[in-house]
Amino acid sequence: MYVIQREGAVSFYAPDLSKYIAGGRIEPAWAPVFYNPAMVNNRSISVIIVRAYLRLLGRNGVLCEPFTGTGIRSIRYVKEAGVERVIAGDVDNAAVDVALRNVELNGLRDQVKVIRSDANVLLANNKCDIIDIDPYGSPAPFINSALLSIKHGGLLCATATDLAVLQGSYVNKAIRRYGFRPLRGFLSREIGLRGLLGFIARQALMIDAGVKPLLAYWERHYYRVCVIVSKDRGSARETVRNLGYAYYCSESLRRGFINRYPIGVKGGCMVSGPLWIGTIGDVEFLDYSLALVNNIDYELRAAEIIKGTLPDNLPIPLYYTVTELGRGLGLIPSPLRLKSHLMENGIEAYDTHFTTEGIKTSAEPWWLIRVIRLIPLTNN
Ligand SMILES: C[S@@+](CC[C@H](N)C(=O)[O-])C[C@H]1O[C@@H](n2cnc3c(N)ncnc32)[C@H](O)[C@@H]1O
Repeated sequence: MYVIQREGAVSFYAPDLSKYIAGGRIEPAWAPVFYNPAMVNNRSISVIIVRAYLRLLGRNGVLCEPFTGTGIRSIRYVKEAGVERVIAGDVDNAAVDVALRNVELNGLRDQVKVIRSDANVLLANNKCDIIDIDPYGSPAPFINSALLSIKHGGLLCATATDLAVLQGSYVNKAIRRYGFRPLRGFLSREIGLRGLLGFIARQALMIDAGVKPLLAYWERHYYRVCVIVSKDRGSARETVRNLGYAYYCSESLRRGFINRYPIGVKGGCMVSGPLWIGTIGDVEFLDYSLALVNNIDYELRAAEIIKGTLPDNLPIPLYYTVTELGRGLGLIPSPLRLKSHLMENGIEAYDTHFTTEGIKTSAEPWWLIRVIRLIPLTNN
């Protein structure tokens, strides 16, 4: 049933995914133990972040991975990021068996403890320096336990794959699950990620803790966030300052963040939140992490994704898409040409990792539309 696979610097047993194909696509959820090769960047990026975090911390600590599946992530943390002790758990017997087998295969019996446990129970029973939450779907039901378990200054990373909820296809579910109103449309990817960060921040505030994002990004079918959790009132107060709302006016194309609910929102404008309105990553930390990247194909691919997020940390709120800018003009400008034009005119303009259609700029929308009307800047 299991075959030896290779990911990162690790060989491990995983289900033979060629046996679980539906409609030409691999369906990892059908296998007896979950292993999704499409999440390799998620794991490689996490290795890079944890490696840099430990270097800066100057000491080692306990990493808890309560949704371990085959154990690949935990094993990679030890072999590639330099983590000394891991507590890996899974509620499923088959997963625990395979994870144990993989720990043996990699000679890590003294470093990686594998236990059969519900994630919230594992977190309640252990104090951890680093926590990696990688569940099916939403991390929301596990964030409170993670925040209680994590030590002051600890690193909490979480994956969310319930993008339809966070990006506004199911508004009521987002309100129930994350306590925020999402926004469907051009900005849904960034708003969804900020909704997730805002949820984690508000959960931290409940225990007088604060969070500071090191990295938060979107990749195709998931969000990933890594935040430092500080258990002091000063950090909690700072976290409050980073919570607010986003507005988007579909007629004027104005958009931005505000730290209070805007009473009397004008027609054509929508409000989303509460969400995280601060920077979604720490550029200094990310530069440091990138400097530690090894010259190996999977690390280089992961590094490219991290680099792609850097402009999203600039103090320019939200991006424009060329489709919305060209709407009504009967054309879609080229993002590359628009960006070059703005830069030639001394106006800040950057890519965004959220969409290849996007452009981050401090220019006002009416001005952008006037430029496009005068010089279409299309590819033709
Ligand atoms: C998305 S997979 C984890 C993948 C793994 N982290 C990786 O990188 O390959 C989710 C895992 O969580 C386990 N699981 C689901 N609900 C759980 C719970 N409440 N407590 C602990 N484990 C759970 C499943 O058995 C599954 O192995």
